[in-house]
Amino acid sequence: MSGRIDNLFDFILWASVILFAIVAISTIYFAIRYRRHGDIARTTPYIENLGLEITWTIIPFILLMVIFVWGIRDFLRLHIIPAQATEIKVTGQKWFWSFSYLDGPSTVGELIVPVNKPIKLLMSSQDVIHSFYVPDFRIKMDVLPNRYTVTWFEAVHTGEFQLYCTEFCGKGHSEMLGKVKVLPQDEFKKWLETSSGPQEGQTLEEYGASLFVKKACVTCHSTDGSKNVGPTFLGLMGRSEVLKSGQTIVVDENYLRESMLNPMAKVVVGYDPVMPPFQGILKSVDIDGLIAYIKSLEK
Ligand code: CUA
Repeated sequence: MSGRIDNLFDFILWASVILFAIVAISTIYFAIRYRRHGDIARTTPYIENLGLEITWTIIPFILLMVIFVWGIRDFLRLHIIPAQATEIKVTGQKWFWSFSYLDGPSTVGELIVPVNKPIKLLMSSQDVIHSFYVPDFRIKMDVLPNRYTVTWFEAVHTGEFQLYCTEFCGKGHSEMLGKVKVLPQDEFKKWLETSSGPQEGQTLEEYGASLFVKKACVTCHSTDGSKNVGPTFLGLMGRSEVLKSGQTIVVDENYLRESMLNPMAKVVVGYDPVMPPFQGILKSVDIDGLIAYIKSLEK
């Protein structure tokens, strides 16, 4: 995208330079060529040339249409967010930036993204108007209180890029800086896995309770003892269950873990084997959290 913006910019710049040169050079040339000689009074002859008039109307018209069509195409591209873009929540406040990843960690002052992936930024401010500006990516968007603004980018190089606030927002405005860190995709994935988990001040149990909703366990498992598509979580820990195989087991941490990652392994009698495996979706801290949450649901 930044390449496209630069191309259009260069086109307008060079078209202006060339036109300016033509006008300036011909002005100087005619001034010298037709300067006044001696005292002879000369009047400027009346010139009418339809061909010339059409030419100097058509050429700028074509030039403007090229810039208009080119500009609107890139403008739309800049404003239509690709459907597969990864969303990151950006918060601006006096005088720092913070970033929250869906189902992931939050960072302050450092936006970490994978290379070659479209990233959607959903932005809002906690106080006054700020503006999110990464010159290397050619993106700039105001960040407003009480309202979301969005922008997107796709980084094509790994490395660190400077982030600025470009809306005067108080005495710390010039220090409201940040970095965009672009990582190779596998490194980003690793970072996301290791740095997510309970937020600051959140217990494992509370974290598990949030996952219960976020990971959609709630659609099939109740917490009040009622029967749903799957067994209730109320009093699940330590309960004896009869499996389809006829075997009886006592629910413990290892059974819960296995049932999240590979639900088909031990299906309880009376239930259909319909739960999707959460292998690769739940990180180990997530499993710990969910187990802690289930443990808390005693009868
Ligand atoms: Cu925030 Cu300037």
